[in-house]
Amino acid sequence: MNTEIAIEHTFDVEKIRADFPILQREIYGKPLVYLDNAATTQKPQSVIDATSRYYSELNANIHRGVHYLSQKATDEYEGARKRIQRFLNATSEREIIFTRGCTESVNLVAATYGRKFLKEGDEIIISEMEHHSNIVPWQMLAEEKSLKIRVVPIDDRGDLILEEYEKLFNERTKFVAIVHVSNSLGTVNPVKKLVDIAHSHGVPILIDGAQATPHVKVDVRELDADFYTLSGHKVFGPTGVGVLYGKEKFLKEMPPYQGGGDMIKYVSFEKTMYNDLPFKFEAGTPNIAGGIGLAAALDYVDLVGYEVIYQHEHELLSYCTERLLELPEVTLIGTAREKASVAAFVLKDIHPHDVGTFLDREGVAIRAGHHCTQPVMKRFGIPASNRASFAFYNTKSEIDVLVESVKKVIVMFA
Ligand code: ALA
Repeated sequence: MNTEIAIEHTFDVEKIRADFPILQREIYGKPLVYLDNAATTQKPQSVIDATSRYYSELNANIHRGVHYLSQKATDEYEGARKRIQRFLNATSEREIIFTRGCTESVNLVAATYGRKFLKEGDEIIISEMEHHSNIVPWQMLAEEKSLKIRVVPIDDRGDLILEEYEKLFNERTKFVAIVHVSNSLGTVNPVKKLVDIAHSHGVPILIDGAQATPHVKVDVRELDADFYTLSGHKVFGPTGVGVLYGKEKFLKEMPPYQGGGDMIKYVSFEKTMYNDLPFKFEAGTPNIAGGIGLAAALDYVDLVGYEVIYQHEHELLSYCTERLLELPEVTLIGTAREKASVAAFVLKDIHPHDVGTFLDREGVAIRAGHHCTQPVMKRFGIPASNRASFAFYNTKSEIDVLVESVKKVIVMFA
């Protein structure tokens, strides 16, 4: 039976919401309206159960022990790796590196691939809509190795200007790192096209998938990305766990990231031999419960199904956009042709922090700030924005609460 299709016909948002205990709680005596999903997503009971079952029934260190619990914990953790491999459609589990999240995944590539293969004068292409975590690691590398960072500009809607991307390539271009879905604008970038263009110049490319995996199906083989990053907590899994996918041919040639236990085969004072993939990049005891919880989160997402998620979230986004635009005080920040689940806006003469603070008292959680994308704020000439971001468990009536609360703020500051 095709589970996705079966569920599509019976998609019941209230049933989904019942799986997320936190969504039942109140804030200041009002029902929680959680619209800060781009910062982090809430966790279904199955993820909470998977992590707590590890601690209550399986807790032991992995890859090392001969005893029963250690072997069980290892099986579950390595099973989680296989689950992630299937989720991303990677060729092999050797291509799935556990990290703390997207930030560490990008840092790993900069610190290993970057240090080994990039040299003075080389250029890295990133975009104007990157999260700080896909800017700063490259800047640190550029400073260390005298590299140049070139930036793809975005237009007034928040779309990448593709012709400018193409123009940035030259014989010194050695790496590209670009986000799949923008956390502050919601823009869904044409990543397949970005990959193909990079490859036509013989340049490897990393795609930052932090905001993509909660909303769109990712197939790394179809995409042909050389590296792809995922953060557990953005995709309904635990915090402190994430993934770096890398093509084996690159990972094999990259030096280790951190040194320590588990990333070695043999250590002596004369010479140390590093472990095989993927363990070469995983020094120390990892977030075992996190990895197991992440696998449970991916099970949950697949059960709901990306078609349903896409349809529901697009309805929410269109509805929210329409309702916000009924208010003349609202300016939307980010109106890209293809968007996912982010409605960012500013209110005339009202600082986003005031908006966020007022909405909080209404039980509405949005984010107000620069969203770790200060260059985006600069591009739009604002210090900060208000950002409502949706997940498949949100509802139109929650958007009504958001809009009514925004109206109250406008009246209050009039
Ligand atoms: N970068 C995260 C956000 O977009 C925290 O809110």
